[in-house]
Amino acid sequence: MSAKERVLSGMRPTGRLHLGHYFGVLKNWVKMQESFECFYMSSDLHALTTDYEDTSKIDESTYEMVGDWITAGINPNQAVIFKQSKVLQHSELFLILSMITPLGWLERCPTYKEQIKEIKNKDLNNYGFLGYPVLMAADILLYKASLVPVGEDQLAHLELTREIARRFNNFYGNVLIEPKECLTNTSRLVGLDGRKMSKSYGNTILLGEEDDVLKEKVRAMFTDPLKIKKDDIGHPEGCVVFSFHKMFNRDYIKRQNECKAGSVGCVLCKKELMEILSEFMRPFTVKRKEVIADKDYLQKIIDEGNQKAREVAQKTMIELRAVLKF
Ligand code: TRP
Repeated sequence: MSAKERVLSGMRPTGRLHLGHYFGVLKNWVKMQESFECFYMSSDLHALTTDYEDTSKIDESTYEMVGDWITAGINPNQAVIFKQSKVLQHSELFLILSMITPLGWLERCPTYKEQIKEIKNKDLNNYGFLGYPVLMAADILLYKASLVPVGEDQLAHLELTREIARRFNNFYGNVLIEPKECLTNTSRLVGLDGRKMSKSYGNTILLGEEDDVLKEKVRAMFTDPLKIKKDDIGHPEGCVVFSFHKMFNRDYIKRQNECKAGSVGCVLCKKELMEILSEFMRPFTVKRKEVIADKDYLQKIIDEGNQKAREVAQKTMIELRAVLKF
């Protein structure tokens, strides 16, 4: 048994990942695999909580997503990569925890209230959607993970997970571990239109984006509307192209000054960004092609991961069943 602390995190299989995922989540996952025993899960059961009508794309999306994890540097020999629905203990623990979770805790959840109000194109008045944080709690508690890398939007779920663990331990005996969050550095990457990079806004740059597409995306980026001629004085603070320079260009301070002084125009500024981004992206694009082309390899990683995850999950469930007197 390794004495390393355990980490669990998950992502819904919604297809290819973009640079927002890379900088917001994956880089952190990659770093954590060095120091912790990491479990990274494709949460396909979670996908059902909102997209239950059509499951035909989940399988393909899982390959795309896991392929991107590996492209980003997740090493399947270090971290366990697995599929939630293939480890049946998630469903069993979810069922047990749902028995002891007060409805009020779920109804008060900010994500629940927000999504019920905002998502109008799907019927979310389902038992599973309300109970979604309980499933997330089961995911975490099953592995006795002490650290969970999540974004800010998931903090309330972590708090709920701790509350559920405490309640369980109080009732039956001390077997579950209260996890801590590990907030991912939210150096918010803006999308092509200046809003947060997100698939639903259609403003993404994909991890492993093909060079011609990448360049076309940069070409079409919004720039400072007040800088029309190349020697006009620019306002880098509000410019999408500059925000990418800031992220990718070591000399961004120089660029900031040049833009403000009107000594560099937007066309040249974009051209340089294209080159910088293109160089950054190239190794990912090459690796992604290789990884995605070999479905058998991906399937083997997932199968082996499922097996390792099951072993840990099974151990926890044996302890749980014992304290429950089942
Ligand atoms: N709820 C997370 C999301 O939608 C995904 C997720 C499922 C997760 N189970 C998890 C994250 C457990 C961390 C730990 O993004």
